[in-house]
Amino acid sequence: MKASAGSAMTTATNARIPPGPAEPYSPKEDLLRWMQRNFERYGDIYRASVYGSDVYVVNSPDYAEHVLLRRWQNFLRKGQAVKRIALSLGNGLISSNGPLWVKQRRMIQPAFTRESVAALRTAIVTPNVALRDRWQAAARSNSSVNVTQDVSSTVLEVTLLAIFGADYGRVAADFHIIADESRNLEFAQTCNALAKVIIQIAEDRRRQDRDASDILGTMMRSRDRDGGRPMPDTQLAREALTLVIAGHETTASVLNWIWYLLSRHPRVEQKMVAEIRELLPDAAPPSFDSLGRFTYTRQVIEEALRTYPPLWLMTRNAKAADQLGEYLVPAGTEIYISPYLLQRHPRLWPDADQFTPERFDAGRPGAEGQRPRLSMCPFGAGPRNCIGEFFARVEIQLHLLLIARGLHLRYDDPRAAETVAAVNLLSRWHFIMQPQLRRW
Ligand code: HEM
Repeated sequence: MKASAGSAMTTATNARIPPGPAEPYSPKEDLLRWMQRNFERYGDIYRASVYGSDVYVVNSPDYAEHVLLRRWQNFLRKGQAVKRIALSLGNGLISSNGPLWVKQRRMIQPAFTRESVAALRTAIVTPNVALRDRWQAAARSNSSVNVTQDVSSTVLEVTLLAIFGADYGRVAADFHIIADESRNLEFAQTCNALAKVIIQIAEDRRRQDRDASDILGTMMRSRDRDGGRPMPDTQLAREALTLVIAGHETTASVLNWIWYLLSRHPRVEQKMVAEIRELLPDAAPPSFDSLGRFTYTRQVIEEALRTYPPLWLMTRNAKAADQLGEYLVPAGTEIYISPYLLQRHPRLWPDADQFTPERFDAGRPGAEGQRPRLSMCPFGAGPRNCIGEFFARVEIQLHLLLIARGLHLRYDDPRAAETVAAVNLLSRWHFIMQPQLRRW
């Protein structure tokens, strides 16, 4: 049964409840592994009890499309997993709902247009050039580097520069603390302290009549549709905090996995570096407009996002009763959609666990256009998709071009990497690697 967004949904009387495990999920087990095991047993949809909620775990592009696109209004609210974030961040874009979410989404969107992201190129390039120089120095002195940590602090610097621009120095120290902290009560307190600093920055900018092309500046210029009012400062602070949290660990996670994947797939790395050398003959940072020409590098990024999607779980709550295929979805049911499981679904992706960037070569059979729309959704889909997708893609690509052009990172650890499904898909241990200068 299909219905367009917003239309009334009538549920068939003979609709059934999907099968599923009798035992509730036990938090002792990794949730992603548990979901995978049950997917192998029950298939594309099953019912389960997770953290005391009734959950349908769905793993087909069509069900995902129903929830995220066709009936998005009935599934606008996120599941309880997101409520923990809301406790610390307040009602920022990730956790707000209803009219507040609509208003905020409209007001923040201008910060992420192509033009706005182009204006943030220097904020992305500067910390990545500094990282490249540090890793080159490590290569010369034959020292190893902690890729996981270095990538994380570089991405944090990029994110803070993009949001706060010239006011970076006023927030950097506090944010470096929350980057290291687990998401606990202290984290909530640090968020409160940071919100005060952000409000102070906004007041100073207004007093000094200082306009800025950073994300905070764009959000301060935004006006709502109804009354033409700016965002209140408390909301501005919440949104800025939300953007740091949403943009930092996600992007750092995928870059961490990319370096691991490249170290394990020399053929892919060589092909990518050949492209970079051809299109980037000298060490000057690539221009914003040239990014689209690095076809293979972009396939590598896409394949990394497929195999290790940072945000491996999306959750939604059904406002009214609904239906997924032949199954009834009672009001209040939580829906779990995992980009990780969808993007490794054996029916959709041949050799799903293999790292093969060429599968995104548009000319090849089985390439992107021929797969169902949501078989690939690392940035989500529909009106609640990732607002920072374009920014993240530009950042990932600039990082890779700047660093891979002159450096190879060798990984000597004999163990194959393991994932930990925290809020983001992390590596169980930090990747310690040996940078090596490339011979030209
Ligand atoms: C590789 C990097 C990133 C990945 C994989 C990623 C992934 C996602 C996904 C899957 C969602 C949808 C969640 C859901 O439907 O429940 C999302 C939402 C969001 N992302 Fe990202 N993200 C990334 C980077 C960023 C960046 C750089 C920013 C901002 C600077 C950002 C800001 C947000 C925000 C604010 C939302 C909530 C949007 C809303 O509910 O309207 N993300 N992201």
